[in-house]
Amino acid sequence: MPRTMIEPFRIKSIEPIRMTTPQERLAMLEAAKLNVFKLRAEDVLLDWLTDSGTGAMSSAQWAAIMLGDESYAGAKSFFRLEAVLQNITGMAHFIPTHQGRAAEKVLFSAVCKQGELVLNNSHFDTTRANLEFNGVEAVDLVIEEGLHPSLIHPFKGNIDLARVEATLKAEGHRIPFGMITVTNNTGGGQPVSMANLRAYSALLKRYGKPLIMDVCRFAENAMFIKLREDGYQDTPVRAICQEMFSYADGATMSAKKDALVNMGGFIMLRGDEWLDPVRNMLILTEGFPTYGGLAGRDLEAMAVGLEEGMDESYLRYRLRTAEYLGEKLEAAGVGFVKPTGGHAVYIDARTVLPDMPVAHYPAWALCNALYLEGGIRGVEIGSVMFGKHQEDGSETYHSMELVRLAFPRRMYTQSHFDFAGEVIAEVKAKAKEIRGVKIVKQSKYLRHFTAELDWV
Ligand code: F0G
Repeated sequence: MPRTMIEPFRIKSIEPIRMTTPQERLAMLEAAKLNVFKLRAEDVLLDWLTDSGTGAMSSAQWAAIMLGDESYAGAKSFFRLEAVLQNITGMAHFIPTHQGRAAEKVLFSAVCKQGELVLNNSHFDTTRANLEFNGVEAVDLVIEEGLHPSLIHPFKGNIDLARVEATLKAEGHRIPFGMITVTNNTGGGQPVSMANLRAYSALLKRYGKPLIMDVCRFAENAMFIKLREDGYQDTPVRAICQEMFSYADGATMSAKKDALVNMGGFIMLRGDEWLDPVRNMLILTEGFPTYGGLAGRDLEAMAVGLEEGMDESYLRYRLRTAEYLGEKLEAAGVGFVKPTGGHAVYIDARTVLPDMPVAHYPAWALCNALYLEGGIRGVEIGSVMFGKHQEDGSETYHSMELVRLAFPRRMYTQSHFDFAGEVIAEVKAKAKEIRGVKIVKQSKYLRHFTAELDWV
């Protein structure tokens, strides 16, 4: 048997990558105020800023686009997608939204009240922000192993059931529902085990609380279960997905991930209890219940994408891709969140720049260095993103300095990853030359998107 795992597709339509020189990249990065968010995408060689909405659609999806029914109410495309989702989730009600955070906004503003509290393994930033916007406290209870980058554990996305129970006992009256994010993006794209989902759901049920799953990367999570959890090796991924969903009472989804589309999202609900307030909020902010902010053609592409996203040879290749880059980092002596997650590799910048003070933002500096050396765009998950400039002029810093390289689906081939491995090794070899940065202009919220920086 040949050992190389090939991309399980061939390429029908291509987008050229514009090659640039290190000198050009330095000029462009300086013009972008040392913030890769401000670069033009065409000036990037490997764009690994996010896996969200950036992937390649298949010929079957493009063909389905022509079948889009653009009727305002009761479009055929709605019913087609509804049937696909009912099959995967076992839930009755499908409520389309234009993307994941819109699903969060509609659900939370319809069913949550000021002063409540929601549990999760780790809330994604838009999930947390939408809860907090409604006056709800968002509490992260991922297991201890999930907080240590170099510690190996097969399901680092699991929620800590003992702490969940303690919180249910102490704060039960404030808790409308529990949440869990699969895979756990904020914690390194780490999966949640079936055993953990089952036990968490049962625990919530004992306290009379429903479970809402944030299912952006449900298919990647299911593949991890197949590969790592006893008893699932011979279970088809679709059946694993169906069992995962069987433990939930509802779900929010950004279809820009495992539904393989460039835009879209939805809410699923098992029961009728929240249906009226959720639909009313949807009509107010997204659109009529059978399109919810999307075109009929988007619904068609999603119906096909959901099926393709559960294809096992695709998922094996997908998880192997991150693992493959992880092996290159290991060989280069670069630390990262281990084991690699489903959609991304999270480099531990402190292992490249151990002597750089946190005040010089080492993960941001490393992110810049990857662009300068090889035109790779990642995203800093460190003290620019999560630190704060206080009113009294002092600074707070984040506990970890990570650079996330997130992989658009079906876009890049093995040679792109070989190239990236070489670039990262080169950056590590030249680490002494990497310059720290300082923030010269920032906004009060989500400052990393718009901050302007300079070399120290
Ligand atoms: N939940 C999770 C776990 C996510 O990763 C995201 C988006 C969302 C919700 C929100 O979905 O973007 O469609 O509104 N994550 C992207 C990322 C942006 O880069 O990780 P959205």
